[in-house]
Amino acid sequence: MAKMKTQKLIKSWVAKDIPKDSRVLLRIDANVPLANGRVSMNGRHRLRSVLPEIERLKARGARIVIIAHLGEPNGKVVKDLSLAPVARALAHAIKHPIRFVAGSIDDAAKVIDRMAPGSIVMLENLRFTKGEEKNDAKFAKHLATLGDVYVNNAFSVCHRKHASIAAITKFLPSFAGELIVKEVRALSAIPKHPFVLILGGMKISTKIPLIKKLGAHADAILVGGASSLTMLKASIGSLPVPAKEFTKAKDVADAKAVAKKFGEVIHLPCDVVVSKGIVTDIGPVTSDAFAQHIAHAKYIVWNGPMGITTHRDGFKGTLAVARAIAKNKNATSIIGGGETVECIEEFDLTDFFSHISTGGGAMLAFLGGDKMPGLEVLT
Ligand code: 3PG
Repeated sequence: MAKMKTQKLIKSWVAKDIPKDSRVLLRIDANVPLANGRVSMNGRHRLRSVLPEIERLKARGARIVIIAHLGEPNGKVVKDLSLAPVARALAHAIKHPIRFVAGSIDDAAKVIDRMAPGSIVMLENLRFTKGEEKNDAKFAKHLATLGDVYVNNAFSVCHRKHASIAAITKFLPSFAGELIVKEVRALSAIPKHPFVLILGGMKISTKIPLIKKLGAHADAILVGGASSLTMLKASIGSLPVPAKEFTKAKDVADAKAVAKKFGEVIHLPCDVVVSKGIVTDIGPVTSDAFAQHIAHAKYIVWNGPMGITTHRDGFKGTLAVARAIAKNKNATSIIGGGETVECIEEFDLTDFFSHISTGGGAMLAFLGGDKMPGLEVLT
């Protein structure tokens, strides 16, 4: 998106005056990993990033109704996917009570009617209702009765055309929260050169559109993780270890097509770490080669780890890439994707990145120029 256009759009998105005492339906992304009924450490970044908007609305005396989803319950109530632990974690983080409403929209309406200005309620997982993922207007209209204003602060869900992201905007004055503005500004910056794009992780299908979009602009595209196995299969025809899951015919064909077009800038591993018959990481020679590219970059976008980082033979490549980015003080660096962000948090290197996106799929979709229904409805 061109810079001028982005600035103009952002101006039209932001809520200027939300009257005190308004009921604000605040869509956040609370899709964080849980373990033993608590938010896992690796959900921290996503939850932390929604706090400023809650604080801002609270300070304005709004009555805040938080709505969100968790996981993929497919329209059914799944006890383990309740948002109750997330409500507790948020309340703890903002040091303010959050009333969790596990019941229906009508139950929530009764609670919201009695709310004092500056107080907060959070509803149960929206995806427990079929209408959410279907972008159902009837469900959105019912949900909208709980608010006077809708604020979307869930950038990482804006690539989804769901009721609480898209259809709801037909029924309420709708605005973007600060997190959306921050993300869109950071991800719309025009890349400086050398521009290095680093892709890893498993889902090559989500990376191909990005290579297609940015292949002509990037000076180097470094591919690691399981995505590189698909690319290697496409370029050398066979792999020394079995990787059936990552070499599906369609993915390999798509990888071949982008390799044909952008082969000169795509860099694949020349050595890998194999543990018990599976590829767990890029090898040390590849790590060094990738670090060389990163050292000269002025603009870096990174999504997806270089290996199976939870494996003891799988994290070194990702660490090498993270360290190389941290060392390069001249580059703007943008990182996204739950697992990748989790890694740099573990390595304690977050301070060395210019922008840490809350989006995984959404960041790739935005950078790849895909439709973003959640943003389109705000314009
Ligand atoms: C995410 O975790 O990236 C967002 O919450 C979107 O979740 P989804 O991929 O389940 O739609």
